[in-house]
Amino acid sequence: MNPFLTIRQASANYPVFVGRGLVDHVGSAVAPRGKVFVITSAALRERFGDRVAASFQPVADVIIMEEGESHKTLATADAIVTNLLEHGAKRDSLAVVVGGGMIGDTAGFAASIFLRGIGLVQVPTTLLAQVDSSIGGKVAVNHRKGKNLIGSFHPPRAVVCDTAVLGGLPRRELLSGVFEALKGGVLGDPVLFEQFEAEREPILALDHQRIDEVVRRAIKVKADIVSADEREEDLRRLLNYGHTIAHGIEAALSYQGITHGEAVAWGMIGANAMAVRRGLLDGATSARIDDAIRAYQPARPPALDTEEVLHGTEHDKKNTGSSRVMVFPRAIGRCEVFTGIGEDELRYGIEAALAG
Ligand SMILES: NC(=O)c1ccc[n+]([C@@H]2O[C@H](COP(=O)([O-])OP(=O)(O)OC[C@H]3O[C@@H](n4cnc5c(N)ncnc54)[C@H](O)[C@@H]3O)[C@@H](O)[C@H]2O)c1
Ligand SMILES: [Zn+2]
Repeated sequence: MNPFLTIRQASANYPVFVGRGLVDHVGSAVAPRGKVFVITSAALRERFGDRVAASFQPVADVIIMEEGESHKTLATADAIVTNLLEHGAKRDSLAVVVGGGMIGDTAGFAASIFLRGIGLVQVPTTLLAQVDSSIGGKVAVNHRKGKNLIGSFHPPRAVVCDTAVLGGLPRRELLSGVFEALKGGVLGDPVLFEQFEAEREPILALDHQRIDEVVRRAIKVKADIVSADEREEDLRRLLNYGHTIAHGIEAALSYQGITHGEAVAWGMIGANAMAVRRGLLDGATSARIDDAIRAYQPARPPALDTEEVLHGTEHDKKNTGSSRVMVFPRAIGRCEVFTGIGEDELRYGIEAALAG
């Protein structure tokens, strides 16, 4: 099996495989030294977990974890650690995590703390996990005070993306990944952006050639950014395009009733309006990006109060110190990070996002 690319981060290099039917070949993508543990949910075990386990010689043990954002907790990570201990996992064991971003983040975090860290292989099964959460090495669980507050930096040994598994995704989960991938086009790949514009039908129908190319291109955008800047000082912040307002919307809704990608879709539209107001982006390009996003019909957020959304963005502010940081497009395929964003202009962006 040949990797489609090798990500070279400061702390680790790892291959990324993209193709169809790869869940049956994960074992040949990595050379484990010790015992292998596939970690997944009960539902995904039946679909893919057992197949991944059977691709190893001898067949890997399977550990089942709870799924759903409410289980993305230290308690779930602790239960995984207990299971690993009971199954005789050692320092040279390998954790192969099979699922969407929730499983990848939670089981990946457990792998990062078990015996101070064991080898990790990501087998992402949602579009969002394939183009975003499995790439870059960040793993985390939530705290009651906020999302992803407890985490590590634990790059995987390999990432194996089987695009055939995307056929089983509920439509809204597929769309959630579409918006993150479209974000990648605006950030760094005009060809990817144009594919989203011109090939909506085949992309949504998961036409093999089209979806494989979209996944590869979106991964490449993120890979280039995390390779250049592993720890998020500057460049990695670019990945937050659309995310300030998205986090505000998600927090105002208590993370209910909207997918992350949908929130990012509205967040990008809000950021574009702010970029035009600042004279950073021309109106025609802004409209072009907005139209491409709207063509995929993100579910509208319920009527929200601007101040509530603004309040929801406070956490982002705390994360970055006193001044708010936002990412604005300058052209399709080129974005820049700006600091010192004022509250009033952010209100303007939130209103544009909520107007749809
Ligand atoms: N670490 C990072 O850099 C990073 C980046 C972005 C997002 N995240 C995290 O990712 C999580 C969201 O991930 P997600 O969007 O993948 O959601 P998810 O993991 O919650 O999965 C969504 C749903 O899809 C189902 N599912 C998964 N694969 C399937 C398949 N092939 N067929 C049918 N159903 C399938 C799951 O069972 C689940 O019900 C959040 O917790 C977020 O914080 C992390
Ligand atoms: Zn995101």
